[in-house]
Amino acid sequence: MNVDVVEKVNNPVRVGQIGIGGGIGPLHLEEMEKNPNFTIVAGCDSRLQSETVAKHSARITALGGKIYSDYRELLADPRVEAVCIAAPHFLHREMTVAAFEAGKHVLVEKPMAIHPDDCRAMLDAQKKSGKVGAVQMQHVGRKSMLELRRHIQAGAIGSMKEIFLSSLWWRENPYYERVAWAGKKMFGNNWNLDGIMFNQAIHFINQTLILCAPGDLPTVAGTRDVEVALYKFHDTSALEMEDCAFITAGLDTPDAPRLWAIATTCSRVDRHSIEIIGERGRALWNGTGYLFVDGQPAQEFTDDNKEFGGSSRVFNSFADAVRTGSRPITDFSAICKTTDFVFSCYQRADWKIKKAPWSATDVLPEVFRQVHQQRKLPAALKSAPAWA
Ligand SMILES: NC(=O)c1ccc[n+]([C@@H]2O[C@H](COP(=O)([O-])OP(=O)(O)OC[C@H]3O[C@@H](n4cnc5c(N)ncnc54)[C@H](O)[C@@H]3O)[C@@H](O)[C@H]2O)c1
Repeated sequence: MNVDVVEKVNNPVRVGQIGIGGGIGPLHLEEMEKNPNFTIVAGCDSRLQSETVAKHSARITALGGKIYSDYRELLADPRVEAVCIAAPHFLHREMTVAAFEAGKHVLVEKPMAIHPDDCRAMLDAQKKSGKVGAVQMQHVGRKSMLELRRHIQAGAIGSMKEIFLSSLWWRENPYYERVAWAGKKMFGNNWNLDGIMFNQAIHFINQTLILCAPGDLPTVAGTRDVEVALYKFHDTSALEMEDCAFITAGLDTPDAPRLWAIATTCSRVDRHSIEIIGERGRALWNGTGYLFVDGQPAQEFTDDNKEFGGSSRVFNSFADAVRTGSRPITDFSAICKTTDFVFSCYQRADWKIKKAPWSATDVLPEVFRQVHQQRKLPAALKSAPAWA
């Protein structure tokens, strides 16, 4: 698969964006405004009266696009050939299936969906329609990660033994109180599971599974023997889900390495790193890719300017798929495995999320260190914290 930035497809894809004014919608408008592979022909938001939505709707009307308050009306617009869905997770299945039924291509925000059944329904609808289905996960498009992956898969560090993932974020209570769906397990009758795993860490869990999966993109490694411990430190009732997750799993790849992952929104340090330990070296990705091969000088892989933060490559591979029939680098058929894995973590934890005191977040960095060092979940550590 060619993962170079596609400079120009033969004619721009005519997109309708669903969800205009939230945290991510405006960034997608920006991407498409400057990307010659796209023309924004419509937008839809259920809160057209909001000042923020109005401000961003004006960007679409300035380009000659139409604005709708009901996404079904946008789907009936014949000018729209593809939709970019930037609405909350719990709507991804409903909107995606409806879009395929209306004969549109779909680029949906992460997470693809929350429940494996939702992913299957989306894949079935896609198959029936014959249209492209891709997930917007911008980090997949980063050159630093794609170059590093190429070397790992070419055998640079030998067979993979262990993987250590840390995805550390900082979110305060108001973040979970900003919109009604934030932090909720269900929203209406739909799965929502808005905890650290499906919301923030999904980016780097997905990166890890992609870095380790053999074959050309799109590809995501499967998992087995999953063990999980979930905690909630934030003291707001708006958060029903976990804000701290410890996961260990074997990867279903020829090397069968074991993953040790820590993810939290309770870390004052915002840091993400994936370390893959191989039999003759180590690969590290922390925004930049590094390769340390025994006896050789270290190699460094940085992002390139054409990416606009990774999302351009994801958008462009979607445009290329629409125009040429290629498979996008974040094709539904691969990324659904990331949903399968995260959902299986809740099942393995028996849906139990232990309440932990906010004051204990001070000791989390030391607990993280010990979990990776001892390769044990918190309750099994030599000096297990009381809350574990
Ligand atoms: N890739 C990233 O880094 C990133 C960052 C933030 C959010 N996201 C994802 O983007 C999605 C949206 O998150 P958000 O934080 O922007 O959410 P949000 O709730 O802040 O905003 C979503 C937008 O969709 C609109 N909307 C809600 N229901 C709608 C409906 N039925 N029809 C039309 N419009 C509707 C809202 O009015 C709002 O303008 C989530 O799935 C989230 O995980 C991704």
